[in-house]
Amino acid sequence: MKNMKKIIVKLDKRSYPIYIGKNILSDKSIFSKIKEKKFALVTNNKIKSLHLKKIKTPSLKKDIIILKDGEKFKNQDSINKIYNHLLKNKFSRDSCLVAFGGGVIGDTTGYASATYQRGINFIQIPTTLLSMVDSSVGGKTGINHELGKNMIGAFHQPIAVIIDTENLKTLSIKQFNAGMAEVIKYGIIKDKKFFDWIEKNTDKIKEHDTQSLIKIIKRSCEIKSEIVAQDEKEKNIRALLNLGHTFGHAIENNLGYGKWLHGEAIACGFLIAASISVQLGKMKNSEYLKIKNLLESFNLPVKLPKDLNINKLFETMLLDKKVKDNSIVYILPNGIGKAYIANSISKKKVIKALKDHAS
Ligand SMILES: NC(=O)c1ccc[n+]([C@@H]2O[C@H](COP(=O)([O-])OP(=O)(O)OC[C@H]3O[C@@H](n4cnc5c(N)ncnc54)[C@H](O)[C@@H]3O)[C@@H](O)[C@H]2O)c1
Ligand SMILES: [Zn+2]
Repeated sequence: MKNMKKIIVKLDKRSYPIYIGKNILSDKSIFSKIKEKKFALVTNNKIKSLHLKKIKTPSLKKDIIILKDGEKFKNQDSINKIYNHLLKNKFSRDSCLVAFGGGVIGDTTGYASATYQRGINFIQIPTTLLSMVDSSVGGKTGINHELGKNMIGAFHQPIAVIIDTENLKTLSIKQFNAGMAEVIKYGIIKDKKFFDWIEKNTDKIKEHDTQSLIKIIKRSCEIKSEIVAQDEKEKNIRALLNLGHTFGHAIENNLGYGKWLHGEAIACGFLIAASISVQLGKMKNSEYLKIKNLLESFNLPVKLPKDLNINKLFETMLLDKKVKDNSIVYILPNGIGKAYIANSISKKKVIKALKDHAS
């Protein structure tokens, strides 16, 4: 297929391809590479009406499971809905689920396939920028619990990821920009050249120039794949992908989930992390300002939400999954293009960074 990029996530026997291109979903040959015969496709009504017609392979559309749209439906009820359909229709261990949607559909479908009959195969067809560059790759699957987000889950890798940039046409600018936060994050943790490229090509990216979209998605997936291949279960370096997330999760939690998009919260979060690096002498102020400007050009927040209590925010950070021995583990940038895991950052420095970003 011309103009299609392929990346392999290298995990020995569980290695899998990521295909990226424009209009690749409509090309039947993309699915001819997949050996499975019986599929159930999981999506929501919005994606179904906007994009299902792009899939031309009949076997993929024979069984469709519709979930309700939204983060609050990333729950056990949706999982049960999938199980019920599979059991009633006699899906066996060699069948395959297809997640067609954003991160919510991807995480839920992934978790259902990790657990149905002790694990069946699944394919990711992400439709938001965030799910294309982040959630569809790497095998973290799961659902929310009343007492915490993403608290129930499993590591379960897909057998293929199919990314069609055409799906982005219907995504809101706000959702697109939230995905850009994760893209920029990859530049900061791993690739200065990529960061600089994004900076120079902001307008083209905003105009959805196809080659630029393919470039940012491909490079993001490469960086994530390389990290996941080295540390699938997040024992060490995979944690670098959480740059800005301890702050971001605390913002989401204090504000109430859904007020800010995840990408917006982590963007503000990694800017705060960068300012701690400046305090530590690990980042130049000019680099901090470059990050700030880039976030602003994608309309991403560079200040904390109004009326957020800074001490309460810090207390919430202590509850994060990444806390070890009662001290918060921070991911901090070491200039642009490198990041490290920092274990002993004083509360004083963190509070200063938070105050410096108050609205
Ligand atoms: N597994 C991981 O590694 C990982 C990583 C990051 C985020 N996540 C999870 O991903 C979820 C967020 O994903 P998201 O940002 O994609 O949100 P989402 O799945 O809720 O999608 C956002 C909204 O956009 C709609 N939408 C999707 N594609 C569209 C399209 N092409 N055109 C128009 N509308 C479209 C959706 O129906 C939804 O209303 C969270 O639950 C988060 O925890 C998981
Ligand atoms: Zn994230």
